[in-house]
Amino acid sequence: MTTITLVQGDITRQSVDAIVNAANSSLLGGGGVDGAIHRRGGPEILADCRRLRASSYGKGLATGQAVATTAGELDARWVIHTVGPVWQAGGGDAPLLASCYRESLRVADELGARTVAFPAISTGVYRWPMEDAARIAVETVLNTPTGVEEVRFVLFDARAYEAFAERLG
Ligand code: APR
Repeated sequence: MTTITLVQGDITRQSVDAIVNAANSSLLGGGGVDGAIHRRGGPEILADCRRLRASSYGKGLATGQAVATTAGELDARWVIHTVGPVWQAGGGDAPLLASCYRESLRVADELGARTVAFPAISTGVYRWPMEDAARIAVETVLNTPTGVEEVRFVLFDARAYEAFAERLG
């Protein structure tokens, strides 16, 4: 049975088995959550990402996919990097955003992670409307069989927190 919890705060300060990163396909860092994770997690994470780019992810990580690295200095065992879809003028590819959550849980299960922290993927630089992203995130987690015991959505501000709280009823 998976418990879903909501926290308003900084995902890099969570003590969980795996922290999910809202990465980009280069896997070589960026702003937002990505920047915060690399900043606080330290260079080991980027070194692991570079190893992935030099081996099985030569072209980078595809949107909707997920891959794990060390968590470096973070209070976690792994970072699970996933690439969200960008919101376009005519909307966004909702199945790809759902895939970020589903694939991250699949990787978490492969690792044996029991507690996983997710940010609100695609709702920052990638401009996905928060309410719709929260609907997709919560519905996907509720409908994905997993051995993960706690899925913790870590929301950076009150608006994001409210959007997720609305979906959890
Ligand atoms: N902890 C939790 N949530 C955070 C944090 C943090 N430290 N920093 C930002 N957020 C929130 C943002 O407010 C937003 O709601 O995470 C959500 C996702 O925003 P982004 O980090 O911008 O991620 P995304 O929209 O998926 O865009 C990914 O941005 O940072 C670059 O390299 C990244 O190119 C990629 C793109």
